Amino acid sequence: MRLLPALALAAFACLAHATDRAHDEHSVAEPKLVRITATELDLRVDFDQRSLRGQVTHRLAWTQPEWPGPATLQLDTRDLSIERVQARNPEGRWQRVEFSLGERDPILGSPLRIELPARLAEVRIRYRTSPEASGLQWLPPALTAGGRKPLLFSQSQAIHARSWVPLQDTPGVRFTYTARIRTAPGLMALMSADNDPAALADGDFHFTMPQPIPSYLLAVAVGDFRFQALSERAGIWAEPSLLERAVAEFADTERMIQVAESLYGPYRWGRYDLLVLPASFPFGGMENPRLSFITPTIITGDRSLVSLIAHELAHSWSGNLVTNASWKDFWLNEGFTTYVENRIIEALFGAERAAMETAIGQAGLREALASLPPERQVLALPPLPGRDPEEVLTDVAYVKGQWFLQFLEQRFGRESFDAFLRRWFDAHAFQSVTTDDFLAFLRRELMARQPGRVSEAEIAAWIAGPGLPPSATPAVSTGLAAVDAARADWLERRSTAADLDTAGWITWQWVHFLEGLPADIAAERLVELDAAFRFTGTPNGEIAQRWYPITVRAGYFEARPALAQFLRQVGRRKLILPTYAALAETPDGLAFARQLLQQAGPGYHPITRASVQALLDAAPR
Ligand code: BES
Ligand code: ZN
Repeated sequence: MRLLPALALAAFACLAHATDRAHDEHSVAEPKLVRITATELDLRVDFDQRSLRGQVTHRLAWTQPEWPGPATLQLDTRDLSIERVQARNPEGRWQRVEFSLGERDPILGSPLRIELPARLAEVRIRYRTSPEASGLQWLPPALTAGGRKPLLFSQSQAIHARSWVPLQDTPGVRFTYTARIRTAPGLMALMSADNDPAALADGDFHFTMPQPIPSYLLAVAVGDFRFQALSERAGIWAEPSLLERAVAEFADTERMIQVAESLYGPYRWGRYDLLVLPASFPFGGMENPRLSFITPTIITGDRSLVSLIAHELAHSWSGNLVTNASWKDFWLNEGFTTYVENRIIEALFGAERAAMETAIGQAGLREALASLPPERQVLALPPLPGRDPEEVLTDVAYVKGQWFLQFLEQRFGRESFDAFLRRWFDAHAFQSVTTDDFLAFLRRELMARQPGRVSEAEIAAWIAGPGLPPSATPAVSTGLAAVDAARADWLERRSTAADLDTAGWITWQWVHFLEGLPADIAAERLVELDAAFRFTGTPNGEIAQRWYPITVRAGYFEARPALAQFLRQVGRRKLILPTYAALAETPDGLAFARQLLQQAGPGYHPITRASVQALLDAAPR
């Protein structure tokens, strides 16, 4: 899929001139007029009603604050009940003000319009959340690891913060915050803020977040969480029964922080803790500042999936410190982070492990490209009005983005590229940026200093062209080559499965083994694999993600009970969607999948439930 250079350059020129890439079409905020600079939350957690209720106070910075006459403040909300809005008048008194909620858009929610007599500096909103809030999951005790206490967690990215706080829900606006969270005694409340490892679970918690963050990094969790330190500044929060295994699995966290600091400058957020959530957490990880939220499905006992920790940590530079201004430029968050993640893995586990993980990612990208329309194969996406911003969550942003940075590293040399990236983070710390900002910085700070290393046409092909440019060199892994050889031996019956030399294979090698099996493999061959390697019932989610779809397509029905068990237990979207997709390919499978969703659905996060539902609804009948 080669692009005509002229076409890429034309698309590229467009990128530079036609659209204001800092504009966020997924928010009603008007940041050129007014910005939230500081927020004060005061919320009670009601597990019976599945609701947060209380108030939020926003401090506002207006352009031309002295401007006479009334002003309208527009905030994003979704499914919130707004009970009262007040504003602080110049004399310091709180007075009620008029407000209205606009019509609910299925993607954006309802705009909250607050009518102010003047450009006042503070507004206060009393509200409660809906039990169906898209950004919250309320778990009854039965769906937690401990089984005795309820649990709540938020997932604000991309635009779910508005379902639990009325605010300017755009990555282009940053604010500091304080919070008071009240809950039943015996539960621990945590936030993307200054969590105190020694806090008492007395039901009343106070938080301060002095670094300004965009709304998608606002996070809260409440549950039976205990803490164990990994180092002076890093530790793990988890339900008691998970804590010990999590501490062993993530013991490399402090070393990861040190590697990242040595490459890109000091970690600027104070503590770095991990919160291990129940298996219903819809993502692998979420980079909430100071407290990454982590799926328990990466606890395999052999530390083979810790690149996910490196990834969420890397966001402390790429994403949290330097933030995409709109979801069109999501690659600035995820592509940079995937690049940094892989550098951390290389420093800790060596170049071969890093190459192996890169190659697995590249295989995923190639597969994704095969089914994405050309306009979604570019790094700098066109405006997405009327589209769910989560559509940006593809391997293009992650892996093509990473690959572009690896390409630059190769051309300019590691030393110079490392220094460049460090300057990028320093120069844009606590700011929101666009692809255009990056390209300007790249031209000035790298291309001008080392001319002739890359051409504008090459850059254009990466940024604005579909597919993979000719300058993309694939990662080479000897560990995966060994897997290819073993698989071929088995497929061509030169060896039985049991006789293959798989000693010491890590998760990514098993993943590669499975990804390379032919689509029409027969069920009895899977029986042989299962007898030798026990894939069915595997506790490793990455392996389950690849194995169960193969069993479905081959009609290997013996795997069904374990498959069903997996889909009931795990809510991490990436791990379960492929199996649902395979089931949806036949009428019998589809019926089975519908039945499973009915059983498992109540335990899924709203995000996961919606994705599975959409997939099954789209299946041909
Ligand atoms: N920030 C993302 C998760 C995300 C992106 C949530 C967009 C909602 C909207 C997080 O850093 C991430 O990328 N998680 C990955 C793991 C990673 C190792 C690729 C995941 O959850 O699978
Ligand atoms: Zn990420």
